[in-house]
Amino acid sequence: MEKKLLSVENVNVFYGDAQAIWDVSFHVNQGAIVALIGANGAGKSTALNMISGFNPPATGRILYEGKSLNNLPPEEIVNRGISHVPEGRRLFKRLTVLENLELGAFNSTDSRKRMKQSLEEVFRLFPKLEDRINQPAGTLSGGEQQILAIGRAMMSQPKLLMLDEPSLGLAPQIVELMFDIITQLREKGITILLVEQNVYQTLRISDYAYVLQTGHLKMEGRGEELLADPDFQKTFLGMVY
Ligand SMILES: Nc1ncnc2c1ncn2[C@@H]1O[C@H](COP(=O)(O)OP(=O)(O)OP(=O)(O)O)[C@@H](O)[C@H]1O
Ligand SMILES: [Mg+2]
Repeated sequence: MEKKLLSVENVNVFYGDAQAIWDVSFHVNQGAIVALIGANGAGKSTALNMISGFNPPATGRILYEGKSLNNLPPEEIVNRGISHVPEGRRLFKRLTVLENLELGAFNSTDSRKRMKQSLEEVFRLFPKLEDRINQPAGTLSGGEQQILAIGRAMMSQPKLLMLDEPSLGLAPQIVELMFDIITQLREKGITILLVEQNVYQTLRISDYAYVLQTGHLKMEGRGEELLADPDFQKTFLGMVY
């Protein structure tokens, strides 16, 4: 049987009084690519921020490796092995590539040795980052900045990598490259939770997908099942490109 790495059970999430996620459940098996898809405002980023500990659920449970994440601070969630590449990348544009990467490793348990190990691994994955080590992040192209954001998240040596719209705003060939990178990371044994609006390509590389609509879980299934489903086609016709 496949092992659940992450389970989200019946969560409700609020911003102040406004509810953004309603009784949503989903899970991510070890080694899988699982997608959360849905239109603007569906609650995709809210779901990732909830798992990262930035906006915990008011009710419901988040279990990772069988243990609750509900009341843990974000640093501890990173220490447990979950890393988040936020929407819009959130790089420090004036800091160099190296400085941005080092910030990704910054937490209490990281020794210098582990930092060096992480850097070597990130440069093995993304050799172009090493070529640009002293360049300010803001001078990189959009695709390179997205790769840097992923590299930064890999510095904490995660088991689960959460990516929020990694293809957003990138040129079509670079979008292809981004999906290739995600597939390669999975081949290296990283489990992926992917948020995307790029529905076709996402379903093509995902093992399983959940569809959110205005904070509710609307549908779920394997990629090819969803693509063949008339309800799904009706909902997403306008979004597919
Ligand atoms: N900081 C915030 N304060 C209040 N409401 C918020 C906040 N962030 C998001 N929301 C609301 O929560 C709901 C879900 O938003 P969220 O950003 O999670 O959607 P999303 O699926 O990531 O959308 P997008 O595709 O635009 O990134 C929306 O109604 C949004 O207006
Ligand atoms: Mg979002």
